[in-house]
Amino acid sequence: MAFFGFVDTPLSFNQLQQQLRRTLPDARIESYDLPECAAPSGQPLRLGLINANFPTGPLAGATMRAVIREPAYWAFCWGSGLALAQFLLANPQWVEGRKIVDLGSGSGVAGIAAALAGARSVIACDTDPDARLATQINAAHNGVQLETTAHLPDACDMVLMADVLYDRQNLPLLKIAQAHAAEILVADSRVTQLPDPRYEEITRIEALTCPNLGEFDEFRLAHIFHFKA
Ligand SMILES: C[S@@+](CC[C@H](N)C(=O)[O-])C[C@H]1O[C@@H](n2cnc3c(N)ncnc32)[C@H](O)[C@@H]1O
Repeated sequence: MAFFGFVDTPLSFNQLQQQLRRTLPDARIESYDLPECAAPSGQPLRLGLINANFPTGPLAGATMRAVIREPAYWAFCWGSGLALAQFLLANPQWVEGRKIVDLGSGSGVAGIAAALAGARSVIACDTDPDARLATQINAAHNGVQLETTAHLPDACDMVLMADVLYDRQNLPLLKIAQAHAAEILVADSRVTQLPDPRYEEITRIEALTCPNLGEFDEFRLAHIFHFKA
């Protein structure tokens, strides 16, 4: 693996670090092996994420404003994304041979897990260009290729949505996803009930955001819902 200038940070993670430092100048990107997330080869799913002891505050005013303006959600693997990745790797039949879209991909965790689990193709969709870059780089580190896009593609077999409903204003994304796919998997620790009874809760998985944000206990459990038209 190529290294550039400093120890243990592969060249491509350096690209992510540069993006991260536009808002958090003292933060680093480090490589994390996700727990209970092994590919069929036995290799753990590995992501470049923010260092665990990243500066949290009090932040200088300009830094705080930059973080609020451009939150680097992609620099975390959110608990629900980790839970969905664990679920797909343990139950590959959900995605095997299918065309998958990971909506709100962030680091790319759910889409990468789907690709490792045998999806025919995976498109990662995120409105944040840094998230799309992170997804590409993280996918390459796991030996899979994902397409990335800012807009939901026309049609697919299944849409994955992990920790996208954190903002209630995102609830309409469910209907938008329904117009693109006959099946949807939603993983969310903040939303425990969905407005449409056709979303059936299929399992709950305890998973922490990585690096650990010390979230409230009530947000440690990701609820996984399945929609089938
Ligand atoms: C909390 S992060 C979750 C990332 C990842 N799924 C995970 O579980 O780690 C939510 C992501 O959704 C993206 N997002 C928010 N609204 C979106 C929209 N309308 N379309 C696509 N992506 C969106 C954000 O940019 C962010 O990367």
